[in-house]
Amino acid sequence: MKVVVVGASGTMGKYVSDRLEQRDVEVVRAHRGSGVDAQSGTGLADALAGAEMVVDCLNVTTQSARTAKTFFSTAAGNIADAATAAGARVVCLSICNAADPAVNRRMGYYQGKAAQEAVYRDRLDDRLTIVRTTQWFELADTVSKQLALGPVAVMPHMMTAPLAAADGAEVIVEQVLQPGPAVLEVRGPRQLDLVEVARALWAARGEHRIVVPIRFGGAAMRNGGLIPDHPDVTTGTTLDQWLTASAGAPD
Ligand SMILES: NC(=O)c1ccc[n+]([C@@H]2O[C@H](COP(=O)([O-])OP(=O)(O)OC[C@H]3O[C@@H](n4cnc5c(N)ncnc54)[C@H](OP(=O)(O)O)[C@@H]3O)[C@@H](O)[C@H]2O)c1
Repeated sequence: MKVVVVGASGTMGKYVSDRLEQRDVEVVRAHRGSGVDAQSGTGLADALAGAEMVVDCLNVTTQSARTAKTFFSTAAGNIADAATAAGARVVCLSICNAADPAVNRRMGYYQGKAAQEAVYRDRLDDRLTIVRTTQWFELADTVSKQLALGPVAVMPHMMTAPLAAADGAEVIVEQVLQPGPAVLEVRGPRQLDLVEVARALWAARGEHRIVVPIRFGGAAMRNGGLIPDHPDVTTGTTLDQWLTASAGAPD
């Protein structure tokens, strides 16, 4: 079985590619560095030739609704067309409740994810699985580094049920090997604010960081609107277990 992972050099793309290879799947690791540009379409047809499955783990770093919508919907359209030509199914990685207007009204990035889901649904119908997860523990690391000034790290309040990205990858791999429902929602074991995750992360690393919480993105994000009401999967790795496994690991 040949599977193309688009965005394979990113956080989730690497986990998914590694785990698929461990299951003896032939993986094509597609990203701009390997000559595949999902936004322009360059290299997609060649990469997908003979593939049975495509996993979309693409990302763009932006809070602009226009940039996010353009990126995700253009890439989804190009991948859907190439998948259709190759006769392949698509697994698209998305975010729980990002398509809910109450959640994404002030979050341009989430509007981009909603647009991505809509394009895939429109073009692929029953050849699509959308795996939505809540926020990953890793996101607290990414955001608190992006919004850092010396020892001060700014972190938006996000009440969620975070999970280890590696656990999310296991769910995606199962959907690749045995496609299930059209939409699968995945959450972590406990409800937590990502501010708490960031504080625990820096403490576990023994690094002095002052994590300053901010209100950003609207009330729904702070008040649990990111947590799915009826999750299909609740993952096992707790924050403490993840910290023990990853705090000493290099970036
Ligand atoms: N972080 C979370 O908590 C969370 C939760 C749920 C869902 N998600 C979703 O998970 C997805 C993956 O996130 P991530 O953090 O793993 O991403 P990431 O680490 O930022 O990696 C993004 C990947 O996309 C590739 N890429 C970017 N532009 C490209 C283009 N034009 N053509 C081809 N490849 C391109 C990058 O490689 P090159 O730069 O080499 O091209 C890289 O491999 C996102 O869609 C995100 O919304 C994230």
